[in-house]
Amino acid sequence: MSLTDNCGRPLLNLRISITQRCNNRCVYCHREGEVKRANRSAEKMSVEEIVRIAKIAISLGISRVKLTGGEPLMRKDLPEIVSGIAAVPGLRDLSLTTNGLLLGNMAKNLYERGLKRVNISLPTLNAETYRKLGGGKLEDALAGVKAAVEAGFCPVKLNMVILKDVNVGDVPDMIEYARQTGVVLQLIELDPINVSNNYYSTHHRSLDEQEEMLREKAVTIEKRQFMHNRLIYHLPNVTVEVVHPIENSDFCMHCTRMRVTSDGKLKPCLMRNDNLTDILTPIRKGANDEQLKELFVKANLLREPYNKSNQ
Ligand code: 5AD
Ligand code: SF4
Repeated sequence: MSLTDNCGRPLLNLRISITQRCNNRCVYCHREGEVKRANRSAEKMSVEEIVRIAKIAISLGISRVKLTGGEPLMRKDLPEIVSGIAAVPGLRDLSLTTNGLLLGNMAKNLYERGLKRVNISLPTLNAETYRKLGGGKLEDALAGVKAAVEAGFCPVKLNMVILKDVNVGDVPDMIEYARQTGVVLQLIELDPINVSNNYYSTHHRSLDEQEEMLREKAVTIEKRQFMHNRLIYHLPNVTVEVVHPIENSDFCMHCTRMRVTSDGKLKPCLMRNDNLTDILTPIRKGANDEQLKELFVKANLLREPYNKSNQ
């Protein structure tokens, strides 16, 4: 049994930000909707605290956990976090979102410790565009993709945020690369959170054109109810998903997520910071499992669709 909010949306996924540190500086980064902390180099949550939060969530019917950041691989103790969460009974899926730059050496170890899936941020296959966007080296990210596929993650997904006048023209190349590498491509609409107004207005672009092209090429099209009702286009030998969150009430109506910020607060919505529930302080003050479950129940009732239907 899972918790349900006041709009009838079940709570099935937990996204835990384990660090604010990152070895890239993507201009479009939404930082998972978190406010930037002054001292980002000091980690806020220990391995034990992260695993405890995951355990409480799983006991309440949340069966899918994703580790995010910042860049999760910046933490040297990531393998212990993965082992700790993977061992919790009732967990069905443990995944990670990464920029892939450090994944080349780590993929196999993480897979063996129980990580099942990875999403790798890859906005372009052009080395110069890649460097301009985030400062990192494209070849390191591609080595990360290769290592993830070889380690056995299934599926490996590439997150491509679409940016007007930057990488729209790279979509066909990315589809071809995904086909050849055996990975799934996700086209993601730029989200305004934590992005400057100026950047958003010059680089936001709707994904309508891409969707039209995908509709024409698709052999079948699927809708994932518990993944924001997103559309999945199965093209010959490659799958492309489209994430279209902006002003999309359907997207919000099918949200099944709770987030945990890197400083240990339950965050019911990516877009808001005015309804957080601190869970780390109670843990440090010795709260028992029942008390921590209560905090989750309370935070769950604060979940509500950000974009509401007009009907
Ligand atoms: N809008 C949409 N997606 C974003 N991501 C980062 N910033 C934004 C944004 N402003 C994506 C990255 C990363 C994932 C966690 O979110 O591609 O893979
Ligand atoms: Fe943000 Fe990810 Fe880019 Fe790091 S790699 S700056 S976390 S989008």
